Amino acid sequence: MTRAAAETDVPTAPAFTVDGEPLAFVPGQTLAAALVASGRVAWRTTRGGQRPRGVFCGIGVCYDCLVTVDGRRGQRACLVRARAGMAVTTGEGDDD
Ligand code: FES
Repeated sequence: MTRAAAETDVPTAPAFTVDGEPLAFVPGQTLAAALVASGRVAWRTTRGGQRPRGVFCGIGVCYDCLVTVDGRRGQRACLVRARAGMAVTTGEGDDD
């Protein structure tokens, strides 16, 4: 196999977009896991005090990790598995 052929055979990581920017993920990861793995600890702010929110419970109880997924607001990032091509928007949480 030539070097050029080997380079083209390297699988690319699947990715979704976050606020329009691509973010690679490992299959099986939740959106929250992929966001944290990329170094993001907060991705929205509260309406009342503009306090940062990201993952708190990690099990779907606290609603701190809300994102918009393909236009559907209020999705818990800790429960939604990442899929290639998803469009995730941050900063639009529904609670305070
Ligand atoms: S981190 Fe608590 S619901 Fe997602």
